[in-house]
Amino acid sequence: MQPASDLAHTLATSPLEARGVTKVFGGLSAVDGMSISLQRGELLGLIGPNGAGKTTLFNLLAGSLRSNGGTIVVNGTDMTRAGPEARIANGVGRTFQIPRPFAEMTVLENVLTGGQRQSGERAWMNIVRPGRVAAEERAAVEKARALLDFVTLSRLEGEPARVLSGGQRKLLEIARVLMADPDTILLDEPAAGVNPTLLELIIDRVLDLNAQGTSILLIEHNMEMVSRLCSRVVVMAGGRYLTEGTPDDIARNPTVVDAYLGGVA
Ligand SMILES: Nc1ncnc2c1ncn2[C@@H]1O[C@H](COP(=O)(O)OP(=O)(O)O)[C@@H](O)[C@H]1O
Ligand SMILES: [Mg+2]
Repeated sequence: MQPASDLAHTLATSPLEARGVTKVFGGLSAVDGMSISLQRGELLGLIGPNGAGKTTLFNLLAGSLRSNGGTIVVNGTDMTRAGPEARIANGVGRTFQIPRPFAEMTVLENVLTGGQRQSGERAWMNIVRPGRVAAEERAAVEKARALLDFVTLSRLEGEPARVLSGGQRKLLEIARVLMADPDTILLDEPAAGVNPTLLELIIDRVLDLNAQGTSILLIEHNMEMVSRLCSRVVVMAGGRYLTEGTPDDIARNPTVVDAYLGGVA
């Protein structure tokens, strides 16, 4: 158990923060001195017109892109220079705007790819501790099955991932990211292109995860979904922080409306 003072410190620390981060592609700053701080247990919305830099910011937060400036802090630790595996090991998981599952692998195998490094991946462990490797594999399969059940894809576990619809791929992404037990999840447009029935399911599952204590940063264009899920929304435009507020405030804010109409360069 953690001493009470450590626990208080953990609760007070943001699980994930960007401080003045910048990413330049060619001559263009896709993200330009952006700051955002997720509170522990929060379900924070991130919106902005196409090309605002939201996905690039996710790539910086998840460690799949290296920033040209600024700092990324995970649970109080500077992880600006850390790669994606180190961020996953520190509790940060992310889904992709355009899911690209391994098409010929089964749905179950795709979920298993989200797990953290296991002993069996170190060849010598198979020789010196074969029992432990087998037990870990069984536990991983059991967990992957439970997650497929959570996203209602159980009956497709043995099918190749290529048979999944767009909405089912979004659900598979959620199951995959949960394999690593993240305490923070970045969701990049989980509802884009999803039919209304699956949309309700995705909303339910996101709420469940948040209710279980997972901090979530959600990029989403569907404002109805954002309003139902988030009490705070940050708006980005032109790579920068524009404003933030409740979904109602944001919908009525003329600066935000201008940004969507192309009024912010
Ligand atoms: N890998 C890349 N190489 C070059 N330009 C990129 C790359 N990724 C994104 N961009 C550019 O960065 C800007 C922000 O894109 P993105 O982060 O995808 O925005 P959003 O997710 O808000 O729609 C856009 O102008 C986009 O064309
Ligand atoms: Mg995007």
